[in-house]
Amino acid sequence: MLNVIILAAGQGTRMRSSLPKVLHKIGGQTMLSHILESARQLRPAKVLVVVGHGAELIQQSFAGQDMQFVQQQQQLGTGHAVQQALPHLRAGTAEDVTLVLYGDVPLVQTATLTTLLQARAGGLALLTERLTDPSGYGRIVRDNQGRILGIVEHKDASPEQLAISEVNTGIMAVGTADLCRWLGMINNHNSQGEYYLTDIVALAAAEGSAISSAQPAHNWETFGVNSRLQQAQLERLWQAEQATRLLSQGVALADPARFDLRGSLQCGQDVFIDVGCVFAGSVQLADGVQIGPHCVIKDAVLGANSRVHAYSHIEGAQLAQDTSIGPYARLRPGTQIEAGAHVGNFVELKKTRLGQQSKANHLAYLGDADIGARVNIGAGTITCNYDGVNKFQTIIEDDVFVGSDSQLVAPVKLGRGATLGAGTTLTRDAPAGQLTVARVAQKTINNWQRPKEKK
Ligand code: UD1
Ligand code: CA
Repeated sequence: MLNVIILAAGQGTRMRSSLPKVLHKIGGQTMLSHILESARQLRPAKVLVVVGHGAELIQQSFAGQDMQFVQQQQQLGTGHAVQQALPHLRAGTAEDVTLVLYGDVPLVQTATLTTLLQARAGGLALLTERLTDPSGYGRIVRDNQGRILGIVEHKDASPEQLAISEVNTGIMAVGTADLCRWLGMINNHNSQGEYYLTDIVALAAAEGSAISSAQPAHNWETFGVNSRLQQAQLERLWQAEQATRLLSQGVALADPARFDLRGSLQCGQDVFIDVGCVFAGSVQLADGVQIGPHCVIKDAVLGANSRVHAYSHIEGAQLAQDTSIGPYARLRPGTQIEAGAHVGNFVELKKTRLGQQSKANHLAYLGDADIGARVNIGAGTITCNYDGVNKFQTIIEDDVFVGSDSQLVAPVKLGRGATLGAGTTLTRDAPAGQLTVARVAQKTINNWQRPKEKK
């Protein structure tokens, strides 16, 4: 049976943040949820998260999820942290294995963890790595036959040991019964006065227990985050990975270095994404979709061959095929754009359906509206959907023509084929097929003279 312990009690002082470190995000997702996702794919019997600093906030963020929190009141070291979780583990049989992960090493992938678990030959398996700059890390000490003897922390290492380039990533798999026993034997007699989890390795070696090692598939998988700088660096590595994956799937990215995904993105064939776009939540782009530069798209479905022009913001919207959006358009939640419809510059839609082939090309607000097919919404049209207390619907039937600068005071309905004269403030329904206009009649004052400057 597999148990997973995630260490997340550290303060993360160097982040200089009021938020607990593991709640900071990579790719729009908290570090802790990244690591949980990888761990859960291993189908562990139990996931235990050791928390200390900011424990309450972390627990709130993951309320109702299938995991257990364990308090570590004082951060006395990684060995002490794992010890806090032990009473919650079952260590019945020799098959019981515990995998130790770090909340601030968020991107380790399931495949690498599987490799580590498979490398374990009864005793202990360490995820190690060779680094050109190993400073700060615990070093893997091996004998001249390559057998692992122990881990020495940077601060406790001799000059010869400091020259070792193979480091401990911190991630290890160990038999649960052995883990309990070895942790009972460690002390804090070291330069940091901490109980080191890494000290169990020398204990295992002394007992002649099998110690194996495995390496991560990608180097970014074991990067830890201790500062905003490291967070930003890991973010870029993660984004580069996402971009590479999409490129290999056939998505055209104008510049993979200027692409950000903070959620999931599913693309059909021949999708093009220009520079500086941000995708969040769950986004689907069908075949032939083209996204212009600097668009933000969240929780949206875009139909085939739709085009989103520069600087558009789309959230919670559904677009059918062949639609055209922007530049500078804003589609808010509950927007539904039907096939071939156009939304132009400085047009905002909210909880509104824009029917097939309809157009709202310039400067409009359309909220709580149901708009039929082939409707033309003139520049400057506003649905007055809110009286300060309640929201009301506007219904615009097929083939309506709304003249420029009209205000549609909801609730109101424009019947099929109605025409609204420019500048109309519509407060009652506009009948189908008729011209409705509500504005002060134009007059010309004869012989009127402009005032002259007094001498
Ligand atoms: C640890 C390893 C080191 C390894 C490095 C990799 C030990 C003694 N050393 O060192 O060999 O190269 O990670 O990054 O294990 N934590 C707790 N409670 C504590 C102490 C730490 O939950 O009392 C958590 C931290 O929040 C963090 C993780 O454990 O997520 C690692 O702790 P940290 O202090 O960063 O260990 P390092 O000194 O980096
Ligand atoms: Ca660390």
